Amino acid sequence: MSINIISTGSYATDEILDNESLSKMVDTNDKWILERTGIKTRHIAKYNTTEELASKACERALKDVNIDKDEIGLLLFATISSDTKVPSSSYTTAGHLGIENAVCFDVNAACSGFIYSMTIAKSMMKDMNYKYALVVGSERLSKFIDWTDRSSCILFGDGAGCALLENSEYKNELLKGKNNSKVYEKQDEYLENEVSNNLIKLEIKDAILGGIYDKKKYLTVDSKDKVSDEVSPFIEMNGRQIYKFATDIGVKVIDKLLKKNNIKNEDIAMIVPHQANKRIIQTLAEKSNLGIEKWFINLDKYGNTSSASVPIALDEALKNTYLKESRGKYLLSLAFGGGLSYGGILFKIK
Ligand code: UT7
Repeated sequence: MSINIISTGSYATDEILDNESLSKMVDTNDKWILERTGIKTRHIAKYNTTEELASKACERALKDVNIDKDEIGLLLFATISSDTKVPSSSYTTAGHLGIENAVCFDVNAACSGFIYSMTIAKSMMKDMNYKYALVVGSERLSKFIDWTDRSSCILFGDGAGCALLENSEYKNELLKGKNNSKVYEKQDEYLENEVSNNLIKLEIKDAILGGIYDKKKYLTVDSKDKVSDEVSPFIEMNGRQIYKFATDIGVKVIDKLLKKNNIKNEDIAMIVPHQANKRIIQTLAEKSNLGIEKWFINLDKYGNTSSASVPIALDEALKNTYLKESRGKYLLSLAFGGGLSYGGILFKIK
C-alpha cells in the first residue's frame, strides 16, 4: 500500500515587495538582507484572503489531473493565518473548490504545518480508506507584520501551496474489480493513465514529527483574544535562538530519517527544506554532508511563508527540475518553527 503525491500547485499574488522598497520603509538595505537571509523579494496579498490563495493553489493542482472531486475524502489546511475561525479555512476552501464529501480541518504547527498535515493525511487515508486527499499550506503573514520592525519585516511573505495525495490501495481494490461495466471503464482509464503518465509521483515512505514547548517565547504571534493586556498582534521572534534551534534540529531530523530507513546520502536526489534563511540551509547542507546543489531553494523570491513554504517549494521543484532521472531515489523535506515544532518527511521518487 502506498500514499503518493500525484499533483502539486502553488500560488502567490502579483504584488511584490523587493528589498529596495523595504529599505525606504525601515532602516535596512539590500546587501544586509541578501547576506543574512538570501531573500530578494516577497509576495504580499493585499486583496486576497488566506483561503483564496489556497483555493488558487488547489485549482492549479487539480487542473493537471483528471479526478472526480467527490472522491476527495480529506482536506487538511496548514496555517497560522486563517481569516475565519468558523468555518475553518479548510471548509471555506472546500466550498470555493466545490468539494462536497471531504472531512476538513485546519492544522496549526507553524512552519512545520505542511509536514505535520502530510503525516496526518497519510495515516487517515489508510485508516479511513480515502481515495484522494488535498493537503494545503497557505499563509497571509503580512497581516502579522510590524512594518516598523526591521528585524522581522524583511523575512516573511504570503503564498500558498498544496499537494494532492492518492491512495494506491484504493486503486488496487478497483483493479481487483467486480464484473460490471462501470468498474471495467475505470480499470481501463487507470491502466491508460499508468502507461501514459509521465508525471513524477512521490510516495510517502516515512516521517518524523516532534516539538519542544517554546517556554521562553522565542517565536510568537498573540491573538487579540488573549486574556491579558500584553498582546502583540505581530510576529515576535528571537532570530538567533530560532536559528540555533533550526540548524540543530534540522540535522537530527535528516540523520534519523536516513538511519531509520537505511538510506545513504547518495540515495537522496533532492532536499526541499522550509525556506526560512539561506544560511540555515547552507549550515544544514554542511552538517548533514548533503551537497548544497541538492537543496531546492526559492526563498529569494518568496521569503518565509511559514506553512506554505514547503508546498510552494515542492511544487516548483517538481515542475522546474529534472527529477525524472532520479526515479528510484529519494526526496527529503523538512521544516522547523513556532511551537517549537519540527518534522521531516521522506519520499520515494516514482
Ligand atoms: O520560520 C521560522 C523560522 N525562523 C527563522 O528561521 C529565522 C531564523 N533567524 C534568522 O534567520 C536570523 O537570525 C535573522 C535573519 C533573523 C537575523 O540575522 P542575524 O545574523 O541573527 O542578525 P542579528 O539579529 O544578530 O542582528 C545583527 C545586527 C544587529 O545590529 P548590531 O546590534 O550588531 O549593531 C541588528 O540590529 O544587524 C542589525 N539588523 C539589521 N540591519 C539591517 C537587524 N535587522 C536588520 C535589517 N537591516 N533588516
